[in-house]
Amino acid sequence: MKASGRADRLPPYLFAELERKVREKKAAGVDVISLGIGDPDLPTPTPVVDALSRAAADPATHQYPSNRGRPELREAFARFYGRRFGVTLDPEREILPALGAKECVFNLNLAFLDAEDVALAADPGYPVYTGGPLLAGGEPVLIPLRPDLGFAPDLDAVSAADARRARLMFLNYPNNPTGAVLPDGLFERAIAFAREHDVLVVHDASYTETTFDGYVAPSFLETPGATEVGVEVFSLSKGWNMTGWRTAALVGNAEAVEAYWRLKTNIDSGMFEAVQEAAVAALEAGPPREMPAIYERRRDLVCDALHQIGVGVAPPKGTIYVWAPVPDGHTSTSYCELVLEESGVVISPGSAYGPNGEGFFRISLTVPDERLREAVERLRESLSA
Ligand SMILES: Cc1ncc(COP(=O)(O)O)c(C=O)c1O
Repeated sequence: MKASGRADRLPPYLFAELERKVREKKAAGVDVISLGIGDPDLPTPTPVVDALSRAAADPATHQYPSNRGRPELREAFARFYGRRFGVTLDPEREILPALGAKECVFNLNLAFLDAEDVALAADPGYPVYTGGPLLAGGEPVLIPLRPDLGFAPDLDAVSAADARRARLMFLNYPNNPTGAVLPDGLFERAIAFAREHDVLVVHDASYTETTFDGYVAPSFLETPGATEVGVEVFSLSKGWNMTGWRTAALVGNAEAVEAYWRLKTNIDSGMFEAVQEAAVAALEAGPPREMPAIYERRRDLVCDALHQIGVGVAPPKGTIYVWAPVPDGHTSTSYCELVLEESGVVISPGSAYGPNGEGFFRISLTVPDERLREAVERLRESLSA
């Protein structure tokens, strides 16, 4: 049996060896604590769960949903954008529900890339910004995120040849994996670049609701001209503790939203209507208010411990991750393997997020405080010089 050549284009799966070692440790009876994946540990808010229960009991929600989504859901997204960001959206033309940001980012590649077309993807970055273009037959061109520019991509460094072939540009602030918040003027520069080179800017707003120290993250669509050249992917996964629910939306440029819809009608059959009703309840209530303080507390716990074992790290102002340099003499993977070996704690190698992530590791803050404290204690004991 021969699988398609498409999958062969994907880069090797960097977590494979780490996962094998985790399995070995668990089999040997080690109590492994995973700070690898970013999956909120706290439950979805009760009113959202209640709305789902009520809606699921109504047979009217049991049939194929429309891929446009219920008008009530699109209107709820529009009201949320108005309240939260001061952005006015037309629920008929500028909003479409998505089955999570991952689906949406991936399918935008299918909707906008032909063979040989380029998607500009941040390095380090969320892996779907590179896997998506490859699977769509296009080419991801990595733009390094520069720490000296506040983890902005240096758009001036994009070659003329790549700029000519570029159709998509992925941005993401607050940023996974670096935890950086929006660098000054970046959205304006991206809009100018998009106008000059006829590129669709895709801003992944997965972490706008998890920010700290009083920082409030903006929407890309607040920037003048953004809707002419771009879209935003807004997800309820992280901000509302709803990763399993697959609830997001593509919002912004009406032509892009329409192209994505045409593609989607051939791929999936929309979001379960009961989940749509629950998403309306979530948007109306807003994200659970206690979450940023919980992550901020965990962030401080982790950053203090890292300082104590000699790892210099700037506390991030957003996301649910801490991004830190590996000590001298290690690669990302050798350090993560050492940490697992010595302390039974799983952390992610920075190189899994792109070549520019080499030399870093990522810690996720999505485990209960007691487990995080235990993990941090083990790191301190086993790794102190
Ligand atoms: C930057 C970024 N975008 C998208 C996603 C996926 O979000 P969703 O659960 O909405 O598919 C993640 C998940 O970790 C992420 O970090």
